[in-house]
Amino acid sequence: MLTSAAAPALDRAGLRARYLNNRNRSAELFALADPSAYVDRPIPLRHPVIFYEGHLAAFSFNKLCREALGEASIDAHLERLFERGIDPSDAADAARHERESWPSRSAVAAFGARCDSAILRAIAMADLTDATASPLLERAQAAYCILEHEEMHHETLLYILHQLPLENKRTAGRAGAFYEREPIATGRVTVGAGTATLGARRDVLPFGWDNEFDETHVDVAAFEMDVNDVTNGDWLAFVRDGGPQPSFWIERDGGFALRGMFETMPLPLTWPVYVTNAQARAYAAWKNARLPTEAEYHRAAFGAPDGRERAFPWGDAPPDARFGNFDFARFEAEPVGINAAGKSAWGVYDLIGNGWEWTSTPFRPFAGFEPMASYPEYSADFFDEEHVIVKGASPVTNRNHVRRSMRNWYRAEYPYVYATFRTVNG
Ligand SMILES: [Fe+2]
Repeated sequence: MLTSAAAPALDRAGLRARYLNNRNRSAELFALADPSAYVDRPIPLRHPVIFYEGHLAAFSFNKLCREALGEASIDAHLERLFERGIDPSDAADAARHERESWPSRSAVAAFGARCDSAILRAIAMADLTDATASPLLERAQAAYCILEHEEMHHETLLYILHQLPLENKRTAGRAGAFYEREPIATGRVTVGAGTATLGARRDVLPFGWDNEFDETHVDVAAFEMDVNDVTNGDWLAFVRDGGPQPSFWIERDGGFALRGMFETMPLPLTWPVYVTNAQARAYAAWKNARLPTEAEYHRAAFGAPDGRERAFPWGDAPPDARFGNFDFARFEAEPVGINAAGKSAWGVYDLIGNGWEWTSTPFRPFAGFEPMASYPEYSADFFDEEHVIVKGASPVTNRNHVRRSMRNWYRAEYPYVYATFRTVNG
């Protein structure tokens, strides 16, 4: 039963299809790691791979079935063990989370299957929108929350697996991503002054995370922006002048190679460089420039000379692979500035796709922020001035997350993520 006339109709078939699609993709991604690497911890500041397989099922079951719908536990121990990931500030902090052993892979799989049945039953039959029964059901928040959570973890899982040694991955048939191409345009453009709309109104999105609300308007002065992301080739000049080596680069034969997902390849000079926020800032300073603010990113991506704002850089058409390198079209970057269909009204390329775009803006709430009922710590735990906003999307960001109000954030020094940048002045 819908709780108000304004509530959108619940598309149970759509929710079910999206859930099953996510579970299939999760299984495919976990299968990229060799079983021997299952309890490895490719990134010291993250849990081992096995945690994530348990976590996806536990999170979805905990949020939707137990917390939102009040169902009984399936396995209280595993529900708690796999409840939450970690984001420690350093190795000593990470050590607090270490465990002597994890459940077997078959035990995790059996637990996952029981969670799946309970969740699919709920999606088929439970009242998912009865906000009078639970605030987690307001506009089906818990159902959407578990779907986006699993989709986000696909990216997290891939950047973790990226760090596994190649011999611990199933690489057969997956190499061959290297190619180079020159960009269509180079240099900078002027992005005119105007208002940037950040965030969104609560009533216009089927679902948004708590940090996307309320809608916020920011006046932005004109500025100059690089039409392309900074490339590995650009960064090489910085390294030769004493700049730091990106974590994805490997020293080889007196030069550099790139650590790809399934292969080590010659350094692709025309691809965006993936670096930390601190490294990006250092590069910008070396160029007598700076990183864009979150609001400047919005002006460049969604603003237009005619004063209107678009839903996406390319206009209002829904996101798909024609417009950029996102949604798992590739596991790797591609050359910058080759996708004319995805450029913004000002002629700026790759603002969505081919790597998240670092900004200079710390992750902070908009006015009107309220922690969401289904996941109150989702954003609030990270308003610590140590996390910085990234916008856009990486090659392995789900198209469902390509929306103007979407905000992502990483620690300024976190070296493993698919984040690039461009510089501005003004
Ligand atoms: Fe999670």
